[in-house]
Amino acid sequence: MNVSDQTNPEPANRERAASEWYWSEDGINFHTRKWVRPEDLNANGTLFGGSLLRWIDEEAAIYAIIQLGNYRVVTKLISEINFESSALQGDLIEMGLTATHFGRTSLTMRAVVRNMITRKRILSIERLVFVSVDEDGTPIPHGYSAITYDRDRMPREHPRTDSVRLP
Ligand SMILES: CC(C)(COP(=O)(O)OP(=O)(O)OC[C@H]1O[C@@H](n2cnc3c(N)ncnc32)[C@H](O)[C@@H]1OP(=O)(O)O)[C@@H](O)C(=O)NCCC(=O)NCCS
Repeated sequence: MNVSDQTNPEPANRERAASEWYWSEDGINFHTRKWVRPEDLNANGTLFGGSLLRWIDEEAAIYAIIQLGNYRVVTKLISEINFESSALQGDLIEMGLTATHFGRTSLTMRAVVRNMITRKRILSIERLVFVSVDEDGTPIPHGYSAITYDRDRMPREHPRTDSVRLP
C-alpha cells in the first residue's frame, strides 16, 4: 500500500469483504489503538465487550470535547451495538469516530472498531450522542455545525482548576 492509499479515504461501502483492508472506512480515520490485555478478556477468553465500550465512550468523550469546545460533555445515548467479530489477548485493535450530526446542544457520532490482526471489523455503532452541559449539568448550546480537524476549539477553562495554561 502506498502513501496516497493511506491519505485518500475509500468510498463508502459497508459490504466489503472482511479480508480487504482500508486505512479509512466510510470517512472514518482510525487514530486510537489498543493492545488487548489479560484484564480485558471475558470468561470465554476473548475481548470483554464492557472493556471495549469503556474505551469507545472515552474516545467519543474526547472527540466531543475537541469538537464542541467544552470539557463538560456527557454521554446521552449509545444506539444498537453490533458485535461482528472479536479479539484475543495480544491482538491490536483500532477505533475510529466521526461526527454525523451537530445539534444545538448535542453531537452525534458514528464509531467503528477493527481488529488489526484479523483485519475484521469488531463492531460498529451508528449513533453515539453526547450533550454539552454547564456546571449544573444543564444542556448548553455549543454553537458549532461542522467538524474541525484542528485544535481551534480546545477549551480554555478546565472544570477542576478553572484555568488551562495556554502555550
Ligand atoms: C444529558 C442530559 C443533561 C440531557 O438532558 P435532557 O433533559 O434530555 O435535555 P434536552 O431535552 O434539552 O436534550 C439535550 C439534547 O440531547 C438530545 N437528546 C435528548 N434525549 C435524546 C435521546 N434519547 N436520543 C438522542 N438525543 C437525545 C436532544 O435532542 C438535545 O439535543 P439538541 O440540543 O442538539 O437538539 C441528561 O439527560 C443527563 O444528565 N443525563 C445523564 C448523562 C450522564 O450522566 N451520562 C453518563 C452516563 S452514566
